[in-house]
Amino acid sequence: MAKPICELNWEAYQTLSFQEKMVYLMQSGGTPYHTLFAQQFNRDLLGQLATLANEIRFIAKSRKGTEFLKTVVSHKRAMLYFSQPSSRTFLSFLSACQILGLQTGEVRDTATSSEFKGESREDAVRTFSSYFDLIIMRTPEKGLAERMAWLLSNSERPIPIINAGSGQDQHPTQALLDIYTLLRSFEKTGGLQEKTVLFCGDLLRGRTVRSLSQLLVNYPKIRQVFVAPPQLQVGEDVQNFLTDRQANFELTDDFQSAIPEADAVYMTRIQDEWDQSKGESAKIDTSRFRFGKTELDLLKSTAIVMHPLPRREEISTEVDGDPRAMYWRQMRNGMWIRAALIAMTFGCEQTIHAYFKASGTEIV
Ligand code: NCD
Repeated sequence: MAKPICELNWEAYQTLSFQEKMVYLMQSGGTPYHTLFAQQFNRDLLGQLATLANEIRFIAKSRKGTEFLKTVVSHKRAMLYFSQPSSRTFLSFLSACQILGLQTGEVRDTATSSEFKGESREDAVRTFSSYFDLIIMRTPEKGLAERMAWLLSNSERPIPIINAGSGQDQHPTQALLDIYTLLRSFEKTGGLQEKTVLFCGDLLRGRTVRSLSQLLVNYPKIRQVFVAPPQLQVGEDVQNFLTDRQANFELTDDFQSAIPEADAVYMTRIQDEWDQSKGESAKIDTSRFRFGKTELDLLKSTAIVMHPLPRREEISTEVDGDPRAMYWRQMRNGMWIRAALIAMTFGCEQTIHAYFKASGTEIV
């Protein structure tokens, strides 16, 4: 694994453009070292990851294959540092590590680490880097994963950081699993191109929407429709990004009219944990932004319903049994794509490709 070293101080690093930062985030072969932002992944890289995830998924079907996978990264250890609540992201990363044979350690509550004694985040992360070979981190702080990646790239023991959700800002691995789900779902309907993806809910504060929206611009003729109450409509940063990339997008608050045109409906919950003064979100009428039986009847037969989960009342449980409800499979896809990302981070793609090829079976 080629480690990008960054000798710039933090102030100088922050002035770099995204393209200039890429030198410090990617390995020389074009695969990720640190995974911090969705924009690090282009269509080619997303395709490579999806292929690798498919192979891992296939190999894991047999006991022999599972045993092989457990040897792929068994020489490495990963630290799961989750200082913000998480079920799926935590468990799917943990499972991904287990699939590949990585040993893991975890801190899920900073009250149980020396941060409670006043240790800085920087010192905590440097401590983890002394014992582990990868840090997977989720924090409520915007930009913290990037700062920690810079810190480690400057240290005598640089190790990769994977951002498992940073504040309201980015959730790159959720976007990877969302893309993988879209690629799999559209395999028989022309692939991920010329499709309409409809986002609905709290688009202002949801980090998954920002990351996925940025990745969708890699695919041809994708139309993105953002459906939300005006107070929760997608932020200007996302709109500016899409405008710069000449993406086809529109904003509306008319959910029912938008549904029949959608190939994927991506529902999100109200993110009221970010309320400045508690209860602000509760005053917003979100009743028109829910997906139930009526909305299902408006949806194309080939379309899918997605959700990063957890859900509240924005998708009714009546929808769960419909073949177009993709959120459970989407969740499991997270485990495969995260395993693929970890294998790629450690440069183990070829080992997996070779085993898959030798097994000589088609992916089903
Ligand atoms: C999302 C998150 O944490 O941003 N959940 C997840 O990782 N699957 C979405 C959410 O919490 O609403």
